[in-house]
Amino acid sequence: MKYVVANWKMNLGVRESIALARGVLRAIQGHDQLPQIVVCPSATALSEVHKLLTRSHVLLGAQNAGPDKSGAFTGEIGLSQLDEVGCTFVIVGHSERRVHFHETDAVVAERLRAVVSAGLTPILCVGEPKDIRDSGKETAYVLRQLSSALADLKLSRNQKLLVAYEPIWAIGSGTPAALKDVLVMHESIRKFLQEDLHLSDERFAVLYGGSIEGKNAYQFLRESEVDGLLVGGASLKINEFTKILEAACDVVEAQASV
Ligand code: PGA
Repeated sequence: MKYVVANWKMNLGVRESIALARGVLRAIQGHDQLPQIVVCPSATALSEVHKLLTRSHVLLGAQNAGPDKSGAFTGEIGLSQLDEVGCTFVIVGHSERRVHFHETDAVVAERLRAVVSAGLTPILCVGEPKDIRDSGKETAYVLRQLSSALADLKLSRNQKLLVAYEPIWAIGSGTPAALKDVLVMHESIRKFLQEDLHLSDERFAVLYGGSIEGKNAYQFLRESEVDGLLVGGASLKINEFTKILEAACDVVEAQASV
């Protein structure tokens, strides 16, 4: 199974979001074998995009979620509210949330637990800044982010955890991390989830994100260590995103024919 997650960030109005979601549905027409596609529009467009996606193979995700209770949390969106508008996935701890909105490891861990206890599927983002990569301490940094976020997490029996490795310096830069470095990091993340958290392979997926485009998607997706992609900028351009989806379809079609 491969995942392609589109993170539209704070872009597009409702009508534009519907048009882009229509483009995604058109892009996968005629393909028998599909990756699991998840689109994450702005909160204002979730409900309308959900209506369009009903009965399609494309699922809906939120870019962020508030605490697990309702009440006096001005400006936050609760998990039951996200559930009500059809979200099944939630991005947690994206580096833009950590950097611009000061979400600490403790906040990320708390939100992750809330997403899991609401029965939604979390897409936990981890990744190191440039100075940490330059100092060669990226693996320790990412594993510390993971162990902090996953402490006390109790996945229910059929629940899955998606981890997106997104080196901060690669996001929106036009240059993804080198494939060999991504594979090394994914292997460390996988080992951590298996050995420290005792999660079996089918309980988690490790995605890569950071400057994925049509021209580089296939080289990542064809690797067994890469369970999918989290795509920002290129997911807003339907021609680019179509190429990414086609690369993913090619890989899952090849897997199915083995
Ligand atoms: P990008 O963003 O694809 O524009 O680099 C990825 C992300 O932030 O999830």
